[in-house]
Amino acid sequence: MNHILHVVGARPNFVKAAPVLRSLRERGVLQSLVHTGQHYDRNMSDVFFQQLEIPEPDVNLGVGSGSHAVQTAEIMQRFESVVLERKPDLTLVYGDVNSTVAAALVCAKLLVPIGHVEAGLRSFDRTMPEEINRIVTDRLSDVLFTPSEDGNENLKREGVPSERVHLVGNVMIDSLMQFLPAARRRPKNGFPEPFALVTLHRPSNVDDPEKLSEILNCLTQLNRRLNIVFPVHPRTRQHISEFRVNAEMLHLVDPLPYIDFLALQTCATVVITDSGGIQEETTFLGVPCLTMRTNTERPITVTMGTNTLVGDDRERLVREIHDILEAKKKIGTVPPLWDGHAGSRIAEILVRL
Ligand code: UD1
Repeated sequence: MNHILHVVGARPNFVKAAPVLRSLRERGVLQSLVHTGQHYDRNMSDVFFQQLEIPEPDVNLGVGSGSHAVQTAEIMQRFESVVLERKPDLTLVYGDVNSTVAAALVCAKLLVPIGHVEAGLRSFDRTMPEEINRIVTDRLSDVLFTPSEDGNENLKREGVPSERVHLVGNVMIDSLMQFLPAARRRPKNGFPEPFALVTLHRPSNVDDPEKLSEILNCLTQLNRRLNIVFPVHPRTRQHISEFRVNAEMLHLVDPLPYIDFLALQTCATVVITDSGGIQEETTFLGVPCLTMRTNTERPITVTMGTNTLVGDDRERLVREIHDILEAKKKIGTVPPLWDGHAGSRIAEILVRL
């Protein structure tokens, strides 16, 4: 491979691409970096580039927000000319966001080989937009890098030839391990201790006024026993204000930079989330994670790690937190190959292609 083009667009992509970019740079591979602009706020994008030491993108497509169709189509339109001009030997896409599937569709039609980092994950829930993105991207990809064995099993079941699939481990954990020492040195920022760290942004939790209000009420009740620290994603912030939901008693803060958020995860009593990546990070850190979803595309965090799916069952959530406060917490282990070297395994495979 002489020239690899990376496409990133949303916050989790940056965390996954950083170690792969670095490993390929160390091996002298020519690379281009395209930012679709799906995430554009300073604290959703620029600060991640700075903290994760990602080079400035060569191209920013500046697509911004929109409905799924609008955002995906806009990325495709703007990205096509970049591919035609730069003529990469392979395009690497990451995770399951709209930028991932849009870039994969463009490259498939231009006959540019596609590599997918974090392939094979399935929640088996097609109401989740990311599940559609995962299925389509994997279908179109030529080289598929999986984070865990379940990914290989899913791809095998879907008929993907095994020679295309490489179990390389979890690139998110590469970034985590690199920046953990810096996170441990971070001052506590005056957050009240002990605390539960909360993140919620999935449409299934935050787009419906009744459900969002019910979740925030439950968190407000919990706040009596355990301080709630809640860095709020822009779409959640927008809905809290639009639906006039009462969140006064909760410690709401703006989305945090990567290292600052990692610092909070390391010292949280429990993390309550609907994010994908945070289920993995807490498993690595050994911090209990209660996931407010009925399913997960990352089942290994439940079977091996510290993750528990609490779905929409608020009584269960409260019960689990009480158990954790009484030191009855789930003990997990770190899955195989979540060892900080996934990026270099990917780079090794790519340079030999
Ligand atoms: C996207 C991903 C999701 C991922 C999440 C991480 C898809 C389908 N979803 O969801 O898988 O877990 O990123 O954060 O790709 N907004 C801003 N500023 C920004 C970005 C977004 O204000 O920098 C607001 C806008 O109102 C926008 C909304 O957030 O409409 C949603 O952003 P969008 O990129 O569409 O999806 P996310 O919810 O961030």
